[in-house]
Amino acid sequence: MRYFKFKTIEQIKAEVDHLGLGEFIKFDEKLEAIFKPIRIGKLTIGNRLAIHPMEGCDGTLDGKPDELTFRRWKRFGASGVKLIWGEATAVVEEGRANPRQLLLNEKNLSEFAKLVQITRKAHKETWGDDSDLVIGIQLTHSGRWSYKKPIIAFHNPVVDRLTYIDKAKKIAIDENYPVVSDEYLERLEDEFVKCAKLAFEAGFQFVDIKQCHTYLLNELLAGKTRVGKYGGDLQNRTRFVRNVINKMKSELGDKIEIASRVNVFDCIPFIKDTSGIGRPVDHPIPYVFGFGVNEENPLEPDLEEPIQMIKILSSMSVKLINISMGSPYYNPHIGRPFETPPIDGYEQPEHPLVGVARHFKLTAEIKNAVGGDVAIVGTGYSYLREFFIFAAEANIKEGRTSIAGIGRGALAYPDFLIDLKRYGRLNPSKVCITISHCTNLMRSKHNELGQFPTGCVPRDKVYAEIFKIARKTSPF
Ligand SMILES: Cc1cc2nc3c(=O)[nH]c(=O)nc-3n(C[C@H](O)[C@H](O)[C@H](O)COP(=O)(O)O)c2cc1C
Repeated sequence: MRYFKFKTIEQIKAEVDHLGLGEFIKFDEKLEAIFKPIRIGKLTIGNRLAIHPMEGCDGTLDGKPDELTFRRWKRFGASGVKLIWGEATAVVEEGRANPRQLLLNEKNLSEFAKLVQITRKAHKETWGDDSDLVIGIQLTHSGRWSYKKPIIAFHNPVVDRLTYIDKAKKIAIDENYPVVSDEYLERLEDEFVKCAKLAFEAGFQFVDIKQCHTYLLNELLAGKTRVGKYGGDLQNRTRFVRNVINKMKSELGDKIEIASRVNVFDCIPFIKDTSGIGRPVDHPIPYVFGFGVNEENPLEPDLEEPIQMIKILSSMSVKLINISMGSPYYNPHIGRPFETPPIDGYEQPEHPLVGVARHFKLTAEIKNAVGGDVAIVGTGYSYLREFFIFAAEANIKEGRTSIAGIGRGALAYPDFLIDLKRYGRLNPSKVCITISHCTNLMRSKHNELGQFPTGCVPRDKVYAEIFKIARKTSPF
């Protein structure tokens, strides 16, 4: 089904109103708020635009940034966006989501330092000054979605059925599969701290303790049924992240800022129905397995705990929070509203603008609840194509987010700010069209490295070529 038919801002506004979403999706064409700097701790971010973490699955097998990683970051550096939120980087080998995911360790340190240098240099060459450019790195453990074997925080009867030990044969984990031990988690806390030190040495200005997209730390937040000190009440479920922050602070002081990308609404898995449209899987009620979900109706968010959690982080001087939601593995329409689904997905069960509105609404509610000294980065902008900049302006100007982050749109059109400066508008023939080929490449594992690299297939020739090869050689 084709949803995005808008050539003018009036047309998209009319559809937003028609869908009853006018309260949540607003546009402001007088661009000024997006250019205002913002301070976080010791850092000044020169404008209110961020590039979200966007994994390229293009590292070396031992986790170093490779040619395409450098290329991508260089393009991000030259973009003029002043907050570059570096991508998912594993803290331990067994926590990598794919064999080409970046891995931060002493052996790889110099390549990460080079990544920062190249990015800053590109920014300086294009924009003259990099003193207000802020670059961070997202530290992660992929948990249930680790490529070697799933590492789970607790059994979720609904998601376990989709957590494969052997994907080709569709063999999923069962109730006897072991849950990760407290001892493992204690050791893992120290790995996060070790990586924060390395990130500082490499020149990153902040580390993101990743708690989103149903990876391990997100799952710990949802671990109401987990027994022991990391499960049960919210105090226990935030123990891991609190310990990590305390240890990072004691080892590094305020040398490096600590940030977190968080899921404020996990929702539940969706699968294709007979017509190819996504529908929620059968699930028990109360649904006690998700973070930020209404247990009586897990299709609806309940922000009480996410707000409490962000307030806890803020009280520990974590002042940069990136809001996200959903799982790329089982409900991709929640996190990244799309026009065409990914190969392992389903047709949109809702108008994609509803998904955009959900992002903007929940982000505004969080921002309103957690107070003014926490900078909130919002998500959900790429679907709006060339109009995203006006939605960013409205959301920032009216205080619904502090910073607007762009994900897929930055792979497609990293030079959008250059065009905006030169021509006063974004070019509709350069924007992301949300047809999910970047996700399709991420899901393509059939080359000699066990992973194809990803980028923008329709807008970037390099990936158009890679996609052709992936298609031609695909066993499916
Ligand atoms: C190819 C690809 C790679 C991604 N990599 C990451 C990542 O490393 N870390 C993360 O938190 N989110 C990642 N995301 C999610 C994006 O950061 C973003 O939340 C999502 O695409 C929605 O924003 P958008 O509508 O602007 O694209 C990725 C998404 C895609 C499509």
